[in-house]
Amino acid sequence: MKICCIGAGYVGGPTMAMIAKKCPEIDVMVVDINAERIAAWQSDELPIYEPGLLEVVQEARGRNLFFSTDIDEAIRAADVVFVSVNTPTKTFGEGAGRASDLQYWELCARRIKDVSTSDKIIVEKSTLPVRTADAMERVLHAGDKQVHFEVLSNPEFLAEGTAISDLESPDRVLIGGHETESGQVALQTLVDIYASWIPRERILTSNVWSAELSKLTANAFLAQRVSSINAISQLCEATEANVAEVAHAIGTDSRIGSKFLKASVGFGGSCFKKDILNLAYLCETYGLHEAAAYWQQVVDMNEFQQNRFVKTILSSMFNTIAGKRIAVLGFAFKADTGDTRESPAISVCKELASEQAQVVISDPKALDNAEKDLADATGIMFEEDPYEAVVDAHALAILTEWDVYKTLDYQRIFDAMEKPAFLFDGRNILDHTALHKIGFEVYSIGKGRLTHLD
Ligand code: NAD
Ligand code: UDX
Repeated sequence: MKICCIGAGYVGGPTMAMIAKKCPEIDVMVVDINAERIAAWQSDELPIYEPGLLEVVQEARGRNLFFSTDIDEAIRAADVVFVSVNTPTKTFGEGAGRASDLQYWELCARRIKDVSTSDKIIVEKSTLPVRTADAMERVLHAGDKQVHFEVLSNPEFLAEGTAISDLESPDRVLIGGHETESGQVALQTLVDIYASWIPRERILTSNVWSAELSKLTANAFLAQRVSSINAISQLCEATEANVAEVAHAIGTDSRIGSKFLKASVGFGGSCFKKDILNLAYLCETYGLHEAAAYWQQVVDMNEFQQNRFVKTILSSMFNTIAGKRIAVLGFAFKADTGDTRESPAISVCKELASEQAQVVISDPKALDNAEKDLADATGIMFEEDPYEAVVDAHALAILTEWDVYKTLDYQRIFDAMEKPAFLFDGRNILDHTALHKIGFEVYSIGKGRLTHLD
């Protein structure tokens, strides 16, 4: 069997590498229009940072895993074509700022139709609005070509930073297919691929529309938990409750569960905001205004939380940060990735810079992306070494929960900073009592401040 995947990004690269590793009898060709990205996949400097990914790629690359820019040839040769291109939020026209921009997906569908000379299974790997398969089938079957395409929905649930373990041992794989004979045959083909390493009971099958909608719903539910605990974090700060204790107490209720209850400066990443906006837009399209408003609130709360963090910095530092050096530790949207898409650090740093602070950003993997994200902001510096970033700083803000920040020498950092030395822990990863003992003014999310100034 030959598989081709169009789109060699955060999803296409790792998912195909895992299929190639687990199914040595299947030839896997990953293609992309971005030649630089493809060249990086062919080297040992992969285009994305993901723990354990290089080892998986190295095991299969050249054996049954290949990367190429020859998209047409890869499509022609394939029995199964995964489409894993980006589906960002539309920035223009109808639905701008909310709907998914499907132009990359549709271009792929047209290309598949134009170059194919044999029947194929087309797998939606990208996250798409419910009923996209319907539109794509019409594009694929337009004209008089005697080639049949069977469209399946197989949304990807991996999280960045843990992609390899998520792919190796997923909670579930979801495959949606049509309830026709050819739909069920195609569905079984994909089930068999995943069954090479995933227990059959974790491979869920459904109709195409349920699979498409389940992906948007899963992300909306996960993000909703983060916004819910962040809403409670503000109340904790006002009442001397501790959000970590509240989260622990409610998380032990098996009906609630303990995951995704970490209060933070806000959720980021390329998926949550985009997918919820898309869900809300879909609800509007079907005239479901209350449901749309409900989901929109999850995004609004997240934006409020990011903004609130900056307001806390400003108000605690005597309402002026102009000219003050502020060290920001962590720019990636979460730990163990270099990805900065929709990272809360972007808006936080821009707002700090607009208050004329001198912002010095450090991150173990995301500095290149940070420089691109902040290319149009002034007063921003980048520093690999966190100990250099904090020299003469009035404040230190933790924006990503990198492990390395948990074990820094905070006495050394305190000594290097201006006094009073402010510390804002946007991820609640540090020992706040110990920091306060050192002499810091400590502010965290959802906990009372620890100060020496009153
Ligand atoms: P990405 O931007 O990293 O990768 C997409 C790739 O597709 C790019 O390299 C781009 O050059 C390529 N591409 C675009 N149009 C093309 C075309 N016409 N022909 C060939 N290549 C083309 O995006 P991503 O993060 O991998 O996300 C892809 C999809 O998966 C999105 O729909 C996203 O919502 C979904 N998803 C992402 C994640 C994640 O963690 N990033 C997780 C689950 C699902
Ligand atoms: C998410 C989904 O988890 C994944 O299933 C889907 O396929 C893609 O979108 P990802 O965005 O890569 O994955 O990372 P995730 O671990 O979900 O974190 C998203 C954001 O929420 C990060 O900014 C993270 O720091 C934040 N978060 C997460 C919190 O603030 N608190 C939490 O308790 C959990």
